[in-house]
Amino acid sequence: MHTTAGGDAFRVRGGNPLRGTVTLSGAKNSALKLMAASLLSDGPVELRHIPAIADVPVMAELLGGLGVEVSLDLEANVCRLEAREPTHHAPPDAVRRIRASISCLGPLVGRVRRARLALPGGDRIGARGIDLHLQGLEAMGAQVIDHGDEVEVIAHELHGAMITLDFPSVGATENLVMAAVLADGTTIIDNAAREPEIQDLCRMLVAMGGRIGGIGGPTLEIEGVDRLGGVAWETCPDRIEAGTYAMMAAVTGGDVVIERVRPTDLKLPLIKLRAAGVVVEEGGSSLRIKAGDLDAVDVVTLPYPGFPTDLQPQMMVMLTQANGTSRCTENVFESRFSFVDQLARMGADVAIDGHHALIRGPVPLHGATLEGLDVRAGAAGAMAGLIATGETIVRDVHHVDRGYAGFVSRLTALGADIERIPADA
Ligand code: UD1
Repeated sequence: MHTTAGGDAFRVRGGNPLRGTVTLSGAKNSALKLMAASLLSDGPVELRHIPAIADVPVMAELLGGLGVEVSLDLEANVCRLEAREPTHHAPPDAVRRIRASISCLGPLVGRVRRARLALPGGDRIGARGIDLHLQGLEAMGAQVIDHGDEVEVIAHELHGAMITLDFPSVGATENLVMAAVLADGTTIIDNAAREPEIQDLCRMLVAMGGRIGGIGGPTLEIEGVDRLGGVAWETCPDRIEAGTYAMMAAVTGGDVVIERVRPTDLKLPLIKLRAAGVVVEEGGSSLRIKAGDLDAVDVVTLPYPGFPTDLQPQMMVMLTQANGTSRCTENVFESRFSFVDQLARMGADVAIDGHHALIRGPVPLHGATLEGLDVRAGAAGAMAGLIATGETIVRDVHHVDRGYAGFVSRLTALGADIERIPADA
């Protein structure tokens, strides 16, 4: 795997259309949860199609600290885990380095009936509370103790409950499912999130012996069992990675085939690409994206099956090149528009009004130095560099490393002029 030195940057020289084929990795937002779910099983768990991204070894280290035996082979994209006797107190350093560490909360409460975790790190987007996770666990009989910079959950008894989420939170749904599979009795989660990655997790839990009804819908019914066994499971493809490369192909005037994708997971993004004039050909597990003359479209981010917030910055870059005014509404993370300042440095015409952004196009972009971006905005910054005149520098690319395997090599193979350079170059 490439280095993940925090200070590295990308240098991008714009102007090349992307052409060729890119094969996707397993989904970041699934792989990390599948790894955490190994805490629920006393048997061996073998995960395949694990993406070679920086968050994966951090999650492996965290699980190791919880007493899980972990062997990770990122070249082969395989992770083997065995949690014979997990402990409840997660090492704070690893927890703070990765937002997905919160996904250990539910499985620990389910299996050990106790969890103690530092408050999680990760992207700097929005407040990202965990109140829904904790309220759900309390409804199942657990007690929550606030230790300041750590939270502890103790469940002397863990019983089924009827839980209605205020908001279909991805993380809360996953944690509550993972606690409920080993609780006593039946738990109903209403207004559950139904992202493809949650479906992947639920299906793996069923293969381990869990009883979960309603997978893919807004109401999950989980009947607790005494134990879960081992499993061999293949991570679902990364729909966000697919959407990112699709939009890059479209905006550079390119023609790209994306392999190992599930087009059904990208229904709304593909509808929006077509509405913007992009030619999209769907195969069973592939997509061909051919650029067309781009027109303005409106997008509204919402929990799945709505338009994913994780594709919003990339969509915004694409819309800077569309004819007319597009409106982009962000409903999931309040500060995700922080990327707009960076885009404006490159000449984009974007006006923010609350959680709406108006993007006027087409406007030529010019190279600039972009910094401090999160995983998706970092990728979107590089994407803007692909169409800008001159040179664009994207700093702090360790964020991009967290979500995109082989970002530079894949883009280079598609004809992009992008390289990784040390910060001080
Ligand atoms: C996951 C994804 C992330 C994606 C997001 C929305 C992972 C590792 N990350 O994040 O890439 O952008 O889903 O699709 O899978 N909220 C609360 N209280 C809670 C829980 C959430 O207020 O208890 C709020 C958050 O602050 C945020 C919104 O709900 O504004 C969405 O959060 P959630 O759906 O839980 O996303 P994550 O699981 O953090």
